[in-house]
Amino acid sequence: MTQGEGSSAERWDKRYRAAVEAPFGEAPNEYLRMISARSGFAAETALCLADGDGRNGAWLAGQGLKVTAVDVSAVATERAEAFDRRRGVTVERITADLADWSPEPGQSWDAVFVIYLQGTTALRLRALRVAAAALAPGGWLVVEGFAKAQAGCPDIGPNDADRLYDLEELRAAVPGLEVIEAWAGRLQLDEGPRHRGEAEVVRFAARRLE
Ligand SMILES: C[S@@+](CC[C@H](N)C(=O)[O-])C[C@H]1O[C@@H](n2cnc3c(N)ncnc32)[C@H](O)[C@@H]1O
Repeated sequence: MTQGEGSSAERWDKRYRAAVEAPFGEAPNEYLRMISARSGFAAETALCLADGDGRNGAWLAGQGLKVTAVDVSAVATERAEAFDRRRGVTVERITADLADWSPEPGQSWDAVFVIYLQGTTALRLRALRVAAAALAPGGWLVVEGFAKAQAGCPDIGPNDADRLYDLEELRAAVPGLEVIEAWAGRLQLDEGPRHRGEAEVVRFAARRLE
């Protein structure tokens, strides 16, 4: 997606308002599902940052987790709430900008998911710091997003390198966590009409040990 004029909220509201079907699909992200199925993953609570119109938060809630989700777009949040109702799940949904949102002091989660938050470097690094600080002991941070190598491929994901991930940046952003998996490579995505096709992607999982 190219970045237009206006605030993040305005841009994303416009995109979600124009979307007939869920732009990133209704099925959960594949990596989130893979991590959730791992034997060492026993999360009972999850925080989904930039949860969009709700596929990941709703799926986790359907698995029995107590889920909090944050997204800057009020339109996405309304769509997500409608999706939760259709799925018969409850998710605490918050409309807020990750440029300045923080959890209440003392709040923590067993897992924090950051799936395709393609903001500027400053925004992504802040979100990762908030995510890492919000982990309960033993908690998992799980990130998937478009990689720097995707710059210049306008069909899918942002074109601007400042909005793309690399593994070194991810490791450096969460120095207190143990990295479980850090992978970058080409994947065939099939996650709704906006994320369909081959793309360079990072997948990153890390845990807070103590
Ligand atoms: C590519 S979509 C991914 C949505 C969802 N994670 C998924 O995988 O279906 C990116 C999401 O990031 C949200 N977002 C962008 N900038 C944000 C910000 N500053 N604060 C919170 N959410 C933001 C958008 O509203 C959008 O829902």
